[in-house]
Amino acid sequence: MLREAVPALGVGAALWLVGWDVATGATDPVLLAASALGVLGAFEAVGGLGAAWSAAGGIRAAADRVRALGEQPPAVTDPAAPLPPPSGSALRLESVTLTHRGARRLALTDVDLAVAEGERVCLTGPSGAGKSSVLALLLRALDPDRGRVTLGGADLRALALADVRARSPWAAQSPQVLGRTLAGNLRLARDDASEADLQAVLRDVGLAGLLGTVGLHGWVGESGERLSAVERARVGVARALLSPARVLLLDEPTAHLDAAAAGALLDLLAAQDRTVVLVTHSTAGLDGCWRVVALLVPAPPAGAPPAPRPGPVRAAVAAPTG
Ligand SMILES: Nc1ncnc2c1ncn2[C@@H]1O[C@H](COP(=O)(O)OP(=O)(O)OP(=O)(O)O)[C@@H](O)[C@H]1O
Ligand SMILES: [Mg+2]
Repeated sequence: MLREAVPALGVGAALWLVGWDVATGATDPVLLAASALGVLGAFEAVGGLGAAWSAAGGIRAAADRVRALGEQPPAVTDPAAPLPPPSGSALRLESVTLTHRGARRLALTDVDLAVAEGERVCLTGPSGAGKSSVLALLLRALDPDRGRVTLGGADLRALALADVRARSPWAAQSPQVLGRTLAGNLRLARDDASEADLQAVLRDVGLAGLLGTVGLHGWVGESGERLSAVERARVGVARALLSPARVLLLDEPTAHLDAAAAGALLDLLAAQDRTVVLVTHSTAGLDGCWRVVALLVPAPPAGAPPAPRPGPVRAAVAAPTG
C-alpha cells in the first residue's frame, strides 16, 4: 500500500511545484510535461527495486541450500578397481543396519534378507518400516552403516555403480519422468527397443490408452506433467519391465490401481523369469509363487518406560509366509 502511495505522492508534489512555476510564468509548459514524464520514468526504473530486495533474501537462501547440497559428499562412490559384474542375480542383505543421512534414528537394524535367483519376493510392512530403504540398498543408492549387500554373491561396494544399476532396474514409488517423448522415456531402459516392444509394454502396464492421446512420440511435459501421477508410476514399471536385466525392484507398483488392474500387473510380474522384489502395503491378489516377507517395527517391550526422545526403529524381517 505504502509502496503504491509514495510514487503517486511524489508525482503529485512534482506536478504541483512545477505547475505553480508555469502559472506564474517562470517555467515553460513543455518543461512541465518533461518533468512529469521524467518523474514517472524514474519511478518506473527504480519501482522494482523494493520487490527485488525482498526476493533477494529468498534467492540467497535457495543458493545456500544448492551450495550445501553440492558440498555434501556423494552417498555412494565407485570403487577404485571394480570387480567384473557377477553373472548371478541372487540378492542378499546380511545383518544390515542403515541410518539415513541427517536422520535421528535408524531406518533398519540388523536386517537379513535372502532372495534366491529367479525368486519372487514381496516385501511388506507398515509405513516407515524401511521397505523403500531396502530397495535403495539393493540398487546401491545407499550403503549400509554395518553389514553388506550382495548381488550374485558380490558385495555391491566392490562393483561399478553403473553395473549395479544396469542389473537392478528400479521402479520408484514416484519415478522420474524426463522432458522427452513417451518413447524417449521408455527407451531409457533399453535404447534399442522397437516400437512394437514399446507398444507391448505400455499395454502390459495398462497404458495402451496413452498411445491414442499423448502418443508414443508425443512430448510428456517438462517432468512428465502431461501424465497423471498414476500414469507416471506405470511408466516407471514399464521401464523396469522393458529392461533386459535379470532383477526387478518395484516400489508400490500397484498403489492407486483398482483391484483388476493391480491383479493384472501382479500376474505379469509373477510370470517374469527374473528375480523380482516387490514392495507393497497389501498382499491381496498375490498368488502362491510369491514369498511374502514382512518388515516389522516391533512394539517396545510391555512396561518399558517411554523413551525420552525418538529411539531407533528396531526393524526385523519376519519369518516368511506364503
Ligand atoms: N531420505 C531420508 N532421510 C531421512 N530419513 C529417511 C529418509 N528416507 C526414509 N527415512 C526414514 O527411514 C525410515 C524408513 O523409511 P522408508 O521410506 O524406507 O519406509 P517405507 O517402509 O518404505 O515407508 P512407506 O510405506 O511409507 O513408503 C522412516 O523412519 C523414514 O522416515
Ligand atoms: Mg516406501
